[in-house]
Amino acid sequence: MHHAAAVTDELPIYDLLGADKIEAMVAAFYRRVPGDDLLGPMYPADDWAGAEHRLKTFLVYRFGGPHTYLEERGHPRLRMRHMPFSVDRAARDRWLALMMAAVDEVGVSLEHRSYLERFFTGIATFLRNR
Ligand code: HEM
Repeated sequence: MHHAAAVTDELPIYDLLGADKIEAMVAAFYRRVPGDDLLGPMYPADDWAGAEHRLKTFLVYRFGGPHTYLEERGHPRLRMRHMPFSVDRAARDRWLALMMAAVDEVGVSLEHRSYLERFFTGIATFLRNR
């Protein structure tokens, strides 16, 4: 019997999804952010490409791929790095809604979708600071 929680037991999620899918997912997320009334104003208007690159390389690293993020940014310290932004309940919920819409746009298996939803929800909840 296969259980959804076992998705990463055999291979890292990076190998299961592939770099192209992760890149497409982050691109789909960042297509939604600029026009978002809540999240849009939080992001650096003059560095969308940089923000997209940072999230993409972070996810590649966290999912078991190359460590480019660490080389470029050092230890993630995500809670500290999000402190300047008001991550309240509404911002957390919106971020998750935009990311899961991005996941659904690129299309992944149900098993990978539920893995990603748990992964993003865990970090987004941990990042709440207001
Ligand atoms: C909970 C709601 C969230 C809000 C409102 C939020 C907002 C932001 C903003 C405004 C930035 C600055 C953009 C930039 O210049 O890079 C940022 C950076 C970043 N966020 Fe979030 N974020 C949220 C959740 C998450 C989650 C769930 C993750 C990971 C799964 C994440 C990962 C990152 C990373 C890796 C960076 C770049 C850090 C760096 O190297 O400077 N964020 N976030």
